[in-house]
Amino acid sequence: MSKTVELIIDGKSYTFPVVEGTENEFAIDISDLRDKTGYITLDVGYKNTGATKSAITFLDGDKGVLHYRGYPIEELAERSSFLEVAYLLIFGELPTKEQFTKWESDITRRTMVHEDIKKILDGFPSTSHPMGVLSSLFCAQTAFYPESLNPNRPADGVYLSIIRSLGKMPTFAAWAYKHAVGHPVNYPDNKLDYCSRFLKMMFALPGQDYEVNPVIANALDKLLILHADHEQNCSTSTVRIVGSSKASIYSSISAGINALWGPLHGGANQEVIVMLENIRKDGGNIDKWIAKAKDKNDPFRLMGFGHRVYKNFDPRARIIKQAADNVLKDLGVHDPVLEIAQKLEEIALSDPYFVERKLYPNVDFYSGIIYRALGIPEDMFTVMFAMGRLPGWIAQWLEMRNNNEPIGRPRQIFSGKVTRPYVPIQNR
Ligand code: CMC
Repeated sequence: MSKTVELIIDGKSYTFPVVEGTENEFAIDISDLRDKTGYITLDVGYKNTGATKSAITFLDGDKGVLHYRGYPIEELAERSSFLEVAYLLIFGELPTKEQFTKWESDITRRTMVHEDIKKILDGFPSTSHPMGVLSSLFCAQTAFYPESLNPNRPADGVYLSIIRSLGKMPTFAAWAYKHAVGHPVNYPDNKLDYCSRFLKMMFALPGQDYEVNPVIANALDKLLILHADHEQNCSTSTVRIVGSSKASIYSSISAGINALWGPLHGGANQEVIVMLENIRKDGGNIDKWIAKAKDKNDPFRLMGFGHRVYKNFDPRARIIKQAADNVLKDLGVHDPVLEIAQKLEEIALSDPYFVERKLYPNVDFYSGIIYRALGIPEDMFTVMFAMGRLPGWIAQWLEMRNNNEPIGRPRQIFSGKVTRPYVPIQNR
């Protein structure tokens, strides 16, 4: 017999079914709570609310486990490639050789962007943050591909939007950077693989040869895999909720890019480096900064620490920490902030404040150090996160669409003034 729970309100009993996930997680299905009882639930920040059933990513925050479609993140980061992981997330299975060849070629053929995109880019002041530019360029695809606005598009039309999104994202990202530094943009070199192509668009200068360093391209590929999906986080929920109104895939993902930008979400990777640099300039007094993070009257938080879901080591942080060490060694880079980060982690992990609250380094703690070693400037860090998260957003948007989920529309408990008569201005 399937499990149920009983809720008693004013002595009256109501029964609700329990839903069990394939990894033995449990949820109380309250979809008819209001109809049955007149009550709603209150869960600010959705800390206990399952917004959907999803078959894409599994995460056990207490054990520090992360799987994409059943495959452990450690194995994928070690053995797969970003485009293969993108296929896995979006279509549910690893591709065969033939499927992968077609997938890679479909994406590679969509790396060029319309020349008029440059006019939009030119409209931005060079002081614009590249995340704002990226989300605008991404959304501008609705203008170049107006058929994407049709909510009842056939599957092959949706597929076209998917390969266009993956193909053009690195071009938009590199162009946002080139615009910020005032350099001419580079066109995609389709003889190269996904990450090498992006690096060449970022760093090649007119009249100079540019050879992609495979250590850098491989490290970038691994970072993109680690960021590719993370179930119902802030930006992904944004993509699903915007998409649930039947807005286009481009506008839904553009909204996700904006949600990711905030310093409590993807913007944390930039903030971590700013914080580590501040600690370095301040003489490396780590105890002082730990005390600031613990002081409830000080708004400072240890950036790159803590997570809504992980109450154990973020498995991505473990992999990235090791990768940061390797990349810096391979490239012969000495970055003093790596030592500060390692000391900070050591001290925080033995401090009762962090231990009691189960605050561990998250994915953003070491990623900025690698990006910096790869030559990527600070305000592009969150853009790199967005490039990595794109397949996850696509997969989640598609799942929401294929499940025909209803429009997302939370309720509220009203806490404002009760009904009162209008007073004309001359009487106020
Ligand atoms: N430094 C100091 N104290 C912290 C931190 C931190 N980084 N994170 C949480 N706390 C404390 C918080 O003050 C609270 O203490 P108390 O119980 O005494 O009030 C307790 O730990 C629980 O924190 P919370 O803010 O209620 O937890 P949350 O689940 O709402 O927030 C978080 C999660 C990630 C927003 C938060 O840990 C944070 O602000 N971390 C720093 C920003 C960061 O690194 N963000 C990247 C997240 S991973 C990338 C991604 O996927 O977005």
